[in-house]
Amino acid sequence: KETKLWGGRFEESVTDIVEKFTESISFDKQLYKHDIMGSKAHASMLAQQGLIGLSERDSILKGLDEIERSIEAGEFVWRTDREDVHMNIEAALTDMVGEPAKKLHTARSRNDQVSTDFRLWCRDAVNKIVASIRNLQVALVKLALKNEGLIIPGYTHLQRAQPVLLQHLLLAFVEQLDRDAGRLLDCKARLNFSPLGACALAGTGLPIDRFMTSNALGFTAPMRNSIDAVSDRDFVLEFLSANSIIAVHLSRIGEEWVLWASEEFGFITPSDSVSTGSSIMPQKKNPDPMELVRGKSARVIGDLVTLLTLCKGLPLAYNRDLQEDKEPAFDSVKIVIGMLEVSAEFAQNITFNDERIQKALPAGYLDATTLADYLVKKASYCGIPFRTSHDIVGRSVALCVSKNCQLQDLSLEDMRSLSPVFDNDVYEFLGVENAVKKFSSYGSTGLACVADQLGYWVSKLEIN
Ligand code: ARG
Repeated sequence: KETKLWGGRFEESVTDIVEKFTESISFDKQLYKHDIMGSKAHASMLAQQGLIGLSERDSILKGLDEIERSIEAGEFVWRTDREDVHMNIEAALTDMVGEPAKKLHTARSRNDQVSTDFRLWCRDAVNKIVASIRNLQVALVKLALKNEGLIIPGYTHLQRAQPVLLQHLLLAFVEQLDRDAGRLLDCKARLNFSPLGACALAGTGLPIDRFMTSNALGFTAPMRNSIDAVSDRDFVLEFLSANSIIAVHLSRIGEEWVLWASEEFGFITPSDSVSTGSSIMPQKKNPDPMELVRGKSARVIGDLVTLLTLCKGLPLAYNRDLQEDKEPAFDSVKIVIGMLEVSAEFAQNITFNDERIQKALPAGYLDATTLADYLVKKASYCGIPFRTSHDIVGRSVALCVSKNCQLQDLSLEDMRSLSPVFDNDVYEFLGVENAVKKFSSYGSTGLACVADQLGYWVSKLEIN
């Protein structure tokens, strides 16, 4: 057995069971790129500060390049007995270049090293997720552009509420996703500080330059407090919180589209290319991708909860428990990117069923609120309060229910029997098309308002 890098004070080697239980190489090898980046910056700093020689630095840098190449070529042998990504790379470097490699860990601990690597990894992951969010936003805006003027029932409590433009509804998702991207970018700005040089927890008496390594790695500044630098994982918590909110948003899109694809709604038809079948029922065509978007959100939330539970009650500073921070983060990022990608794919492969939607629109008195507004506006001279108008329209709806008709089918006489304020122009307010035209408040579903929103996103997302 090879002596561990930390083996000096040990007389026995660890048992196989302990070795297997404590290793992290099986998953933290994902950090290799960032580990190598960090080591290169550290080696250059050590040389600048006269802690290692220039030729030693050069053999370290050359060796690290070679290791990166061999990892990417799939030639590198990851060894469980070398525990984690940091020691695998350091030991391989020592095998390769000898003595100079033994100087690389000067004024460094795996505690600041792992926090550095993980922050760099999270920074890259944030960028990838934000790119996937933008891609989904573009798909949703394009779907909106394809369906200009289409009115659909808007729901509250999953009951018919008011008519809305489909474009308006799709842009609601686009807004939510924009805040999701914003949360990730906020998180990135807060995590982008360098722990490197915090060493085990207390810093070092060697003349290192933490500002140099921070700069070289694209961090904003070195972290002020070495104990904080190695012990906290709030940056991952924040990242996974942002991911959880994304997952919750996507689960809601998933639910909506699953519902819309049902025979009962029939608002959308997903193409065959984004649907799957049943192993027993030959007729089935299921919207599985969006069901799984809904389902996988559970895992993303679970990853956050794992990490919160992991960090709860840990004493300062580094504890080995923290090694458990990586798998939930890797999982969360992989799942969220998959969810975003498949949602965009789905958006590009659904068609709205105009006919079914037209058939659905008349039911549910979607124009009732517009009618209540009509009375308020109409009556401003004689002062009908909204509450009274609400009551009059409520009774108009009751009349329709008893006559089994829509509001626009009521005669003026019928309506006048409920309020003398009703006039012939009332018919310009009834029916979903008329009702939609009456919306004019900022952010409303009115045609011009939605056109403004759409214009905003087309230019912001640079869609042509
Ligand atoms: N593999 C460890 C982790 O992921 C690296 C740090 C280990 N430090 C230590 N002193 N055992 O957290």
